[in-house]
Amino acid sequence: MTPDNLAGPSGRTGRDLSRDAADGRDAAADERPPLIYLDNAATTCPKPPQVARAVAEALDTFGGAGRGVHPASTRAGLAVHRCRRQVAELLGAPDPRRVCFALNATEALNTVIAGLVGPGDRAVTTAASHNSVLRPLNRAADERSADVAVLPVAPDGGIDYAELDRLLRVPTRLLMVTHASNLTGDVYDVARMAEIAHAHGALVCVDAAQTAGCYPIDMAADRLDIVCFTGHKGLFGPQGTGGVALAPGVDVPALKEGGSGARSYDRRQPDVYPERLEAGTLNAHGIAGLAAGVSYIREQGGPAAVHERVEALTMRLEQGVRAIAGVTVYGGHADVGRCGIVALNVGDLDSGTVADALADGFGICVRAGAHCAPLMHEALGTSGRGAVRLSLSALNTVEQVDAAVGAIAEIASLG
Ligand code: ALA
Repeated sequence: MTPDNLAGPSGRTGRDLSRDAADGRDAAADERPPLIYLDNAATTCPKPPQVARAVAEALDTFGGAGRGVHPASTRAGLAVHRCRRQVAELLGAPDPRRVCFALNATEALNTVIAGLVGPGDRAVTTAASHNSVLRPLNRAADERSADVAVLPVAPDGGIDYAELDRLLRVPTRLLMVTHASNLTGDVYDVARMAEIAHAHGALVCVDAAQTAGCYPIDMAADRLDIVCFTGHKGLFGPQGTGGVALAPGVDVPALKEGGSGARSYDRRQPDVYPERLEAGTLNAHGIAGLAAGVSYIREQGGPAAVHERVEALTMRLEQGVRAIAGVTVYGGHADVGRCGIVALNVGDLDSGTVADALADGFGICVRAGAHCAPLMHEALGTSGRGAVRLSLSALNTVEQVDAAVGAIAEIASLG
């Protein structure tokens, strides 16, 4: 939230706007409608009810997964094994044993970069990357003398594949790309990027934080070497779940070492998967919830069906806000598609001011600011005030989308 004393370029604060917008509504505060959650790119909320049920049941019944052969431990181990298979199937990952769980996409991406971008190695990424890619790469450059090149992004968010090909002519170990921008929602053609990377002998690692579960991914068909995913966004799992899927023959050294539940007399972390990348007791409670989230997606017809539903809502939202005088919508290069995000600004207002007005005046939850995507903001020309990001899930409704459009129209008319 923007503090009261932090005004946007118009000099009006979020609370000024929300007071105007809510004119008369404060008196009847308890009659306000329930919150409308449009920040699903940060974390999905709510989750399908079976997710909470699965976590609650796991809390009461699970021992440590892979840490014993008694019934409570076996129950946890089986649940983790089942979830591994489900995630592998959903991502088109050929070998479930090579789906290794982590806390989130950030931990998975850090593992890959720390393991594969060593002293003197070259890595290439794009300006659409999140800080969970940019910062570990910058560290590799600063502390390990890695050579890191960043492919620029056009003002509409698009990338130049010929330029990517050119960057990869210098011998490169790893191409790190985002599947969809967490700022604009535009989806990049990762199959094409993998083809270019492989032609130059580089591995490709895809950050699927914004797409896993809500946009089709086929690791095998697209020849993706590594896919990092988070559980708490499109997969509808709890926070603290996520992981990395490795194609056969692709190896990533362990970032963490510790208990593996097997081979305890080995001096070092076992080099078999998944144990190699799963030191310490797993978050089996969370993983049980993640499995319930993945089951929900399958019940809805899979990621393609989920995407179709979210895309219809997104188009309605985008068309609605584009029709409002003074609203600027970002991205939209439509490389291969988009996920459920609309990023915008209203007049010359600061993005935090608008987000505050939406929250305080209308109960609408969105994210403003930089979204941990600094280079993308530079490309879009929004580094100063950031952008207001509205992000949808399959659990949002047409009524919520229309309410958001109405609220933005009201803010635009006041701002
Ligand atoms: N990376 C998440 C976002 O885009 C947290 O909001």
